[in-house]
Parts: sequence; C-alpha cells; structure tokens
Amino acid sequence: MIETRATVVSNDPEGQNYWRLRLSLKIPLRPQPGQFAMLRPSDQIEPILRRAFVFYRVKERDTGTDCEFIYKIVGRGTQQLRRARPGDTIDFLGPLGRGFHFETLTPSTGEVYLVSGGVGLPALYMLAEELSLRGIHVKLFHGEATARPEMEPAGLSDFTLLLGREAIVCTTEDGSFGRRGLVTEPLEEELRQGATCPARIFACGPSAMLREITRLSREFRVPAEISVEAAMGCGFGVCLGCVVPVRDCTTHRVTFKRVCIEGPVFSADELAWEDLPASAS
Ligand SMILES: Cc1cc2nc3c(=O)[nH]c(=O)nc-3n(C[C@H](O)[C@H](O)[C@H](O)COP(=O)(O)OP(=O)(O)OC[C@H]3O[C@@H](n4cnc5c(N)ncnc54)[C@H](O)[C@@H]3O)c2cc1C
Ligand code: FES
Repeated sequence: MIETRATVVSNDPEGQNYWRLRLSLKIPLRPQPGQFAMLRPSDQIEPILRRAFVFYRVKERDTGTDCEFIYKIVGRGTQQLRRARPGDTIDFLGPLGRGFHFETLTPSTGEVYLVSGGVGLPALYMLAEELSLRGIHVKLFHGEATARPEMEPAGLSDFTLLLGREAIVCTTEDGSFGRRGLVTEPLEEELRQGATCPARIFACGPSAMLREITRLSREFRVPAEISVEAAMGCGFGVCLGCVVPVRDCTTHRVTFKRVCIEGPVFSADELAWEDLPASAS
C-alpha cells in the first residue's frame, strides 16, 4: 500500500454522468484486477475522507505508472473530483483490498462470464484484459437501468475493442440501449441453453443483481466471485465502517468481514445475503 500524490493527466466526462480520470504516479505500481485506490483532490479540505475507486486500467512507464479510473458523480466527493484539472494533485492510497482469483483459469478450463450493472463495469476491465491475455474466452453481460441511445455506457467501447462486439450483451430496463430487461435474464438464458457451462462468473453491480447471480451460480453449479461495494471511511481496516456479514461454510455461523481488507471480492456463497442491507452494492 502506497500513500502518495498523483498528478492529474486528464479528467473528462464520458457517457451519462460518468468521468474518466487519468493519473500519473512517479512510482511503479502493479495492482491486481479488482483492487482499488482511495482518492481525494489534495487541495481540498472538504470532504476529509478519501473515496474508493477500482483501478480501471494501469500502464507502467519507465518513470512511474499511469492509472485510469472511471467514476460516477454521486455526492460531495465525486463532485470535488470532477473539478480536478490536468496538473492538479490527488491524494492517492493504494493498491488496496483483494482482487479477483483467476490464476487457476486456463483456455482449457473454459469460458468466463463477466456480469456488471451500472458502475460495476469498471471493476471488470483489468480482469477482462488479464483473461484475454491468457487466451481465455470472455463474455460480458452489462446492464443499465436506462441509457441515451446515442451514448454508450462509459467504458463499453474499451470492452468492445478488447473482446469484440459479439462477446458483449447489453441490457437496459427500459430498452433504451441494447436488449430490454435485467442483465441477469440473458445470463440465465445462456446458462440454460449453453452447451457448456462457464468456468466461472465474475460480477460487480447492485446487490439485487448480485443476489440473483448467487442464485444462478448455485442452480447451475458455476462458482461466482463478486466485488462488493460498501461505505468506506479509511480503506485500510481501521474504522470498521465497511463490514459485511459472511457465513462460514462449515459452521454456518455469521461473522463480519471488512470489504477493504478481506474484500472487495468475495465468493458469492460466502456472503450472508439475508443479513446484508439492500443498499450494500
Ligand atoms: C471497493 C470500491 C470500489 C469502487 N469503485 C468505484 C469506481 O470504480 N467507480 C465509481 O464510480 N464508484 C466506485 N465506487 C463507489 C464510490 O466509492 C462511491 O460512489 C463514492 O464514494 C461516492 O462518493 P461521494 O462523496 O460522491 O458520495 P457521498 O454519497 O457523498 O459519499 C459516500 C461515501 O463517502 C464516504 N463517507 C462519507 N461520510 C462518511 C462518514 N461519516 N463515515 C464513513 N464514510 C463516509 C463513504 O466512503 C461513502 O461511501 C467504489 C466503491 C468501493 C467500495
Ligand atoms: S474502510 Fe475502514 S475498515 Fe474498511
């Protein structure tokens, strides 16, 4: 974990209500897919707490590292971040948390499904890159509530370049972009009709979507890993603001784990969904 100041290279709007932030760091950094950083504009006193953002894309240079983040404007912290201009500095703490487990996957273990809802998409790009590099076939299911037909969801064009359009299924609840309905509907169809089951499902998105993925992963016996979001105070295990209930698979006892240290990626089976607040996504 490194605490430093990163320089803003660019910070531009993308899609509806999303921004793409490029930062330059003077140190080498190799975050794993699914890990995150805590960011805050350095010249601002308010808000005091940094905000969590997953690494979207990372490139090592001779003199340091370039990192990209895609973020949605939500409240005070992201409003502040939106105002950062090239040359400004950002308080950077990372890489943090545990990412996705993909080391045992090979082209012969089978296809992998990535499933995202809304702002869950950025959590999956580095993973898609890593899996593609290993020659593993990847299919992306991405859902939004609504979209402007002329505007692709932020980051989707990067996935299209990487995976090809035929490997991507998009849904919107109102049919404004892609297929009408919930993203878990084409996923379920694919699982029912597919000649072979995928080796694994990796997902990030709203809790209702993640719960449904847990149900599907049990029904079709496909292991699923999901990246959970929680309100974060510190990002490194001290404030206990980010705990989620988890169930021990042998004793069935419910305990708590910190999303920032033991997560944000958990096995879908591990999370005690019935004890999770509906907003934990
Ligand atoms: C691991 C992880 C990865 C994420 N990756 C992304 C991403 O790539 N892109 C993206 O758009 N979003 C991402 N998010 C969500 C993002 O962190 C939130 O959207 C962002 O924190 C909203 O900040 P805000 O100030 O705009 O909103 P607000 O609603 O004003 O602030 C909410 C957040 O502020 C913090 N906070 C405020 N007050 C307190 C307090 N009193 N005590 C503790 N915490 C407080 C908490 O972190 C809380 O979650 C991620 C979240 C997590 C946990
Ligand atoms: S954010 Fe403080 S313990 Fe996890």
